[in-house]
Amino acid sequence: MTNNQPAIRVRDLNFGWHPSAPVLQSCSLEVPKGEFWMLLGTNGSGKSTLLRLLAGILTPQSGEIEIVQPIGFVFQNPDHQLVMPTVGADVAFGLVKEKLSSIEVRSRVKEALAAVNLLDLERRPIYALSGGQKQRIAIAGEIARHCAVLLLDEPTALLDADTQLELVAQVQRLVKNRGLTALWVTHRLDELDYCDGAFLLEDGKVVASGGAVHLKQILLQSKERES
Ligand SMILES: Nc1ncnc2c1ncn2[C@@H]1O[C@H](COP(=O)(O)OP(=O)(O)O)[C@@H](O)[C@H]1O
Ligand SMILES: [Mg+2]
Repeated sequence: MTNNQPAIRVRDLNFGWHPSAPVLQSCSLEVPKGEFWMLLGTNGSGKSTLLRLLAGILTPQSGEIEIVQPIGFVFQNPDHQLVMPTVGADVAFGLVKEKLSSIEVRSRVKEALAAVNLLDLERRPIYALSGGQKQRIAIAGEIARHCAVLLLDEPTALLDADTQLELVAQVQRLVKNRGLTALWVTHRLDELDYCDGAFLLEDGKVVASGGAVHLKQILLQSKERES
């Protein structure tokens, strides 16, 4: 059950790397608390930029961002995110800043690994993991920090089709079981079936939003117009 209060609220966001080339233009969107939403758009439409603005890694030229904290971020390539030699050490690494006791750290690590169904891999070296397992460990690292919002930037881009759908189903379960809110960037339409809703980003703004069926229809129409 959701109370429909937004966990992410973006109003009239403007951002550009150069004043002559705006990336986001009056971009607005809302993601309700406890829901799993996806962000679609062609290459270069500004999806990664928007996620970085939401995470506070970039600062907008103007506009408002309200987002529930703490935020977790999952990158396309887990090799850029996992830094420690073993699974358990990596998940614990993200907790260093929180000054927890070692007992608390251990319990957070176990809780997070259990949440992604990888408790038995705690002692496994990172290099011995598959791509899908690495992404689940990256997610576990953010779960261990008790993130309220999970931002995922094309987390399945490097995965094969089966692992891809396992990961999206896993995140859907995490959102529902833990009351998280997630915003997931993708260009793979079969993933849409797992979301509560999706946005289509075009020319720096959200041009369509709604359920999976509606978004697929819109994408099909725009493909037909192109051809
Ligand atoms: N670090 C950067 N410096 C300058 N331009 C950038 C940088 N990162 C992205 N861009 C430009 O911003 C636009 C949006 O990019 P991006 O947000 O990565 O799109 P997407 O993730 O939708 O493919 C593109 O035109 C891209 O070339
Ligand atoms: Mg991108």
